Amino acid sequence: MTAPVNLPLKSRGKLASSLPAEQLAEIAGLFEFRRTGYSLDAPFYTDPTIFKIDMEAIFGEHWIFAGSVAELPEPGDYITVDYGPYSLIVLRNDDGGVNVLHNVCRHRGARVLTEAAGSTGNLVCGYHSWTYSPEGNLIHASAPGETKFDKGCFGLKRAHSRVVAGLIFVCVADEPPTDFDETSKIFEPYLAPHDLSKTKVAYQQNIIEEGNWKLVMENNRECYHCDGHPELACSLFPTWGLTEGLIPAHLEEVWDRNKEAQSSLEERCRRYGLPYEVVEELDTRIAGIRISRESLDGEGESFSADGRRLSKKLLGDLPDFRLGRCSMHLQPNSWFHFQSDHVITFGVFPVNEHQTLVRTTWLVADDAVEGVDYDLDKLTYTWKQTNLQDKAFVELCQTGAGSPAYEPGPYMKSEYQVEAFINWYVQRVQEHLA
Ligand code: FES
Ligand SMILES: [Fe+2]
Repeated sequence: MTAPVNLPLKSRGKLASSLPAEQLAEIAGLFEFRRTGYSLDAPFYTDPTIFKIDMEAIFGEHWIFAGSVAELPEPGDYITVDYGPYSLIVLRNDDGGVNVLHNVCRHRGARVLTEAAGSTGNLVCGYHSWTYSPEGNLIHASAPGETKFDKGCFGLKRAHSRVVAGLIFVCVADEPPTDFDETSKIFEPYLAPHDLSKTKVAYQQNIIEEGNWKLVMENNRECYHCDGHPELACSLFPTWGLTEGLIPAHLEEVWDRNKEAQSSLEERCRRYGLPYEVVEELDTRIAGIRISRESLDGEGESFSADGRRLSKKLLGDLPDFRLGRCSMHLQPNSWFHFQSDHVITFGVFPVNEHQTLVRTTWLVADDAVEGVDYDLDKLTYTWKQTNLQDKAFVELCQTGAGSPAYEPGPYMKSEYQVEAFINWYVQRVQEHLA
């Protein structure tokens, strides 16, 4: 994935303030007059200028999920994470922490690391061999005849990072929002028992969806469309997002089974001291979150056709396989499913206004052996199928948003989390433009 190359230079960085007043007023009006409870006007999904504002106001200001510690287990291991105009190096340092560096050489701007992942000592730019330490300090630049060249002024730019319960978050803003601390305190106790520091990547899938990043997020925030996920529906109760009084006749039996499974899951959680309560603050805080532990159908262990475990090794010190899924949504670009036997992380990385990279990573216990403790095809089957189906749904909507006949339509009651996502997004951009 590469950043768009056709953006006018003046639109980088100070975009909103550099837009002609008339155009800015027009865009601000689209945010101000957006109809609550309805999908957004077409330009939000199709207009390159709004995409640039999204990169500035959302991806340039907020904490973004980048990956997990399982993707960089050893000092020197790194991943590169690209979204919109940004390219970041996320690198495990000798202290076990994480350095986040802008992947932009301070000589003439070349990408320093070009692989999606790898392991490195110092970072050597491929163009003229400027060499940086893992902290980003410039430690070598051949400079024949230069007398006034001060290496200390040309380190790689750093970004902020936070590692919470093994999840790595980055922020490129000068001053990151501070309420992420509070959000971290909410989710850390739910996720810590799964101990990501003792997991490994079983598989990672990158797919480019031909759709705006907000359509990807909207699609993820509801299960109204879950009839389109036959493999997922084997284990994930398709009543997700519904409440008493909203259950269609064909789901009544499933609803009863779901309620029973949920109450026995909660009983087990109380016994083991695991939190399960729903915390839902998707648009009432800056680092918006929804987290809960919810039952799975069948045996209630994992995302398989019969709900049985997909890996024989329990994660962390978990005492039981029947722990359903601890699921978390974070604004603006991630969701997660933590089971007792494996974890799946999902990161959404915008490419441009009509393309989005969705990165799905399956983690298992670090001592689980492929072919012995888990079968990779079985482990990944449900969500590989589901991702392809979701990609198709997103692409249908993107096509529709490009039609002159498109107009915003109403979110149904079971889509209240889609509305919460959009409400969060509109608030954040308006704060940025104010
Ligand atoms: S651009 Fe990196 S060393 Fe010249
Ligand atoms: Fe879906």
